[in-house]
Amino acid sequence: MKILLGVGGGIAAYKAAELARLLMQQGHEVQVIMTRAAEEFVRPLTFAALTGRKALTDLFAIESAIEHISVAQDHDLLVIAPATADLMAKLAHGLADDFLTTLYLAFTGPVAIAPAMNVNMWQHAATQANLETLRRRGHRIVEPDSGYLACGMTGPGRLAAPEEIAEAIASETRKRRDLEDETILITAGPTQEPIDPVRFLSNRSSGKMGYALAEAAAARGARVVLISGPVNLAPPRGVETVPVRTAIEMRDKVFERLAPATIVVKAAAVADFHVANAPGQKIKKTAARISLELDPTPDILAELGRKKGDRLLIGFAAETQNLQQEARRKLESKNCDMVVGNLVGGADSGFESDYNQVTLALSSGENIPLPLAGKREVADRIFDEALKLRLALHGQQITLLTDGLKS
Ligand SMILES: Cc1cc2nc3c(=O)[nH]c(=O)nc-3n(C[C@H](O)[C@H](O)[C@H](O)COP(=O)(O)O)c2cc1C
Repeated sequence: MKILLGVGGGIAAYKAAELARLLMQQGHEVQVIMTRAAEEFVRPLTFAALTGRKALTDLFAIESAIEHISVAQDHDLLVIAPATADLMAKLAHGLADDFLTTLYLAFTGPVAIAPAMNVNMWQHAATQANLETLRRRGHRIVEPDSGYLACGMTGPGRLAAPEEIAEAIASETRKRRDLEDETILITAGPTQEPIDPVRFLSNRSSGKMGYALAEAAAARGARVVLISGPVNLAPPRGVETVPVRTAIEMRDKVFERLAPATIVVKAAAVADFHVANAPGQKIKKTAARISLELDPTPDILAELGRKKGDRLLIGFAAETQNLQQEARRKLESKNCDMVVGNLVGGADSGFESDYNQVTLALSSGENIPLPLAGKREVADRIFDEALKLRLALHGQQITLLTDGLKS
């Protein structure tokens, strides 16, 4: 794996050298990025000697490309150790005033954070709030140890042992390759149903949940085809993205690409109706009332349910109430193996949010409520539970289909 190691300006920065050595020993490529304060504690030369690569320190020392973007795109995992209180605050609030914090914002892969600081700094409400923000964003936090600290105090705040941080990275790596044998078809976003050539019917889906699923699947080694309605999101790295606009186009692309899929995740919010006989010319403004005639769109999830073979079929149910009952009803009526009940309409979960609170209804009869978490973390939990369900249902054979909002 190609690992980025971000080093903050704390007394534990010297332990990052040991971490870099361990990661190299485990066969990873390691690129170190140091903050200005980190250079007060350890010299970049130490990391250059250990990793065989010049440590990056200066955002403006551009040689050829825009380095913080190209470096972000070229690596698989970012670990920040030690993460100082200052660095955690910057990451939590999206500040980007040096190489490391700017790269953090440009990086789309998994992030592990190992904080280290004085016990009072660690327990301060500001640090704890920043920690919570980073945790909810889906980052892996390698908790600091408790013990004697360099400041002479005793308590939590000591950087986790380099071996423990390396092990956390190793377990991320192992976990991240567990979809290597899968071909996963994912749908995402809303559809747009034309009223005339300039107007359309749509919904509030942002596509973020489907894109998080695609990113998670690709990071865990799957071949991913993402069939996406119109969204304002960058196509995920390492994913084949197929743009569509209407429910009918989405249906056609899904069945065109279905054959090799071992897992299909259908998270799109497909329109339930489209305008019958939408005119080819713009409808003129008039003072009189006009009405639109709507026909139902194809029920993609139900069709997938009928044709699922030995695939595992997973649907989404976006609900504002009775989440569990509705998810289970959909599971049974659409012949799914899992339905992700998606609470929408709340301030902090659902459509445009970066967070989601879901309940998984499984064909095994189990209901698994997940805590409110970043969509990427929710995506990983969905795949974790899908893999367990596959073992329970068919041994090694599984395919996963996830539908959006069609009820
Ligand atoms: C000797 C010394 C040790 C320090 N150790 C820590 C530490 O362990 N954790 C921490 O959060 N800040 C520590 N600080 C404070 C940070 O260096 C300071 O907040 C700095 O701005 C952090 O920069 P960064 O964002 O580049 O990490 C220490 C400062 C000094 C002078």
